[in-house]
Amino acid sequence: MTSITIIDRSGGERSISAQDGVSLMEAIRDNGFDELLALCGGCMSCATCHIFVDEAYLDRMPAVSEDENDLLDSSDARQPNSRLSCQIPIGPDLEGLRATIAPED
Ligand code: FES
Repeated sequence: MTSITIIDRSGGERSISAQDGVSLMEAIRDNGFDELLALCGGCMSCATCHIFVDEAYLDRMPAVSEDENDLLDSSDARQPNSRLSCQIPIGPDLEGLRATIAPED
């Protein structure tokens, strides 16, 4: 299990234990953060799993694919540390990660 802190849209934060191998989106959703809609279930066609990643962890993330980049571009809230959480696999290297749920588009 990997410990991750999620910050919701109201600024509240909670630490969760995420099972290694699931996506960050699944870990957030399965821990009751209803505001992360993840409408497409992780097949990368919705961008409703948009999060901001702690800058210190950006170089531990998998590369942004062209499709992910295109979807993130559709968000008015995109920032340099934006990612789709369904594209980030949980693993020990993410221990201590802080991720903020992006505003709704
Ligand atoms: S859940 Fe739809 S793009 Fe991530």
